[in-house]
Amino acid sequence: MNKFDLKKKVAVVTGGAQGFGLDIAKNFLKSGAKVIIWDNDERELEKVIKKIKNKNLSKQIVDITDPESIKMTVKKITKNMKIDILINNAGVTGSTTELWKYDYAEWKRIIDINLHGTFNCCKAIVPHMIKNNYGRIVNIASVSGKDGNAKASAYSSSKAGVIALTKSLGKELANKNIAVNAVTPAGAKTRILNQMSKEHVKRMLSKVPRARFLKLNELSSMVCWLSSHENSFSTAAVFDISGGRSTY
Ligand SMILES: NC(=O)c1ccc[n+]([C@@H]2O[C@H](COP(=O)([O-])OP(=O)(O)OC[C@H]3O[C@@H](n4cnc5c(N)ncnc54)[C@H](O)[C@@H]3O)[C@@H](O)[C@H]2O)c1
Repeated sequence: MNKFDLKKKVAVVTGGAQGFGLDIAKNFLKSGAKVIIWDNDERELEKVIKKIKNKNLSKQIVDITDPESIKMTVKKITKNMKIDILINNAGVTGSTTELWKYDYAEWKRIIDINLHGTFNCCKAIVPHMIKNNYGRIVNIASVSGKDGNAKASAYSSSKAGVIALTKSLGKELANKNIAVNAVTPAGAKTRILNQMSKEHVKRMLSKVPRARFLKLNELSSMVCWLSSHENSFSTAAVFDISGGRSTY
């Protein structure tokens, strides 16, 4: 794996208690960063901190749908350190069913976590990045936000929203040393797959020319570069990691 220098950088990784977020956090630690993982799953957060035992890793219980709690948490962090990197990774797929059968409350829940959650974290942290004239933001979208998956209209719409948010915010910050990019992974074996039916997962995999799941380290490697100072030009962009599924 390539190594990027993240020494003296502080990273917030949302949904960092497991899956992609945890692998990104581990990769950041190896690259020398201080990492704060945010998650609303208290039990998983406890387990991770006990297991990893690294003085550069800390946790905060944060629900990304709660702007007030995010604001307070950011205030606490920025009293004695900067936030250089934000990874908007926390997300859910929700139920897999046709749009006309979709429960409205469930639709709103998915948009609220995946899209509004990303907005809330960016809104709270970007002013600090502007003050420091440095920042790297990576939003974990999905190939479904580009292609639109059948029986996943809420999830696909939320991720399409994350892609558009990335492009808008990236342009708003382009005259500063702040990069905002999104990645669009195909399916990987994490807990999120349990939220989908077996048929849905099979259908997703059948669309991938590489004919396998994405590995966690393949994603975290791309995210690590995007989060480093070496990514000094790319912004407002979407980086594909779909094994050939999405060719645009
Ligand atoms: N695994 C895949 O196949 C896949 C593919 C494309 C994109 N993604 C995206 O990658 C991201 C990570 O997914 P994953 O596969 O690692 O899933 P995961 O379920 O393993 O991890 C997601 C984490 O987000 C946390 N979370 C959920 N809602 C939250 C909230 N309101 N506040 C704070 N934390 C919350 C969960 O507790 C969990 O720890 C998601 O945004 C997902 O949509 C995943």
